[in-house]
Amino acid sequence: METTTRDITKLNLNDIPETCNRCIYWSFPEEFEKSQAELPRRKQELIAKKRQWILQALKKFGSCGKILYHNNLPVGYAEYGPPNRFPQIREYKSQPIGEIEDGVVFLACLYIADQTLRRKGLGEELLERIIADLKRRGFKTIETYARTGSSENPSGPVEIYLKRGFHIKDETDPEFPVMRFDLQAHST
Ligand SMILES: CC(C)(COP(=O)(O)OP(=O)(O)OC[C@H]1O[C@@H](n2cnc3c(N)ncnc32)[C@H](O)[C@@H]1OP(=O)(O)O)[C@@H](O)C(=O)NCCC(=O)NCCS
Repeated sequence: METTTRDITKLNLNDIPETCNRCIYWSFPEEFEKSQAELPRRKQELIAKKRQWILQALKKFGSCGKILYHNNLPVGYAEYGPPNRFPQIREYKSQPIGEIEDGVVFLACLYIADQTLRRKGLGEELLERIIADLKRRGFKTIETYARTGSSENPSGPVEIYLKRGFHIKDETDPEFPVMRFDLQAHST
């Protein structure tokens, strides 16, 4: 299997997998539900909105996502950035998610779009690249909401994080605990 991972840039936005390319779940929660009910009429509008959000994040934060290619085809995607750019966080019971001023980056999405390619180590590989990137850039911590008992969740199941050395920071909602990884304490 030949896989590569590339940072999102202005030039490869078209490679972001379907659904992620128009997903405003984390960034515009007040609009998200309504927009789902109005698909496909609003699809192009949502793609444009998501692009704007990404371009702004790239400008202010730098690289905020990665695309994973398998045999040159985009099959995976991850998105991350300053927690305050993902207001949906406020709707989760497990808290708190830290702040960018303290070096905390929020991992909003980890996704292998092609289901036939799951459980082959690609998700782990994508996560590894994120960790290496954020560590190199001097951030201190990654936090995310994983799901207990299911991989159907924006950033996947608890197990993938426990396996890589994350720990549970808060499990007020045991189904969606906050997972935390200390970038400075772990080797990459
Ligand atoms: C989370 C996800 C990216 C994992 O990708 P993957 O390539 O299948 O994962 P890997 O093969 O790298 O698995 C690594 C480890 O994660 C854990 N894991 C992965 N899938 C799991 C599952 N379904 N149940 C329990 N543990 C799981 C295991 O510990 C696994 O290690 P193992 O294979 O040695 O047991 C994938 O399940 C996914 O895309 N889920 C949907 C996420 C989603 O919907 N995102 C939002 C899109 S809008």
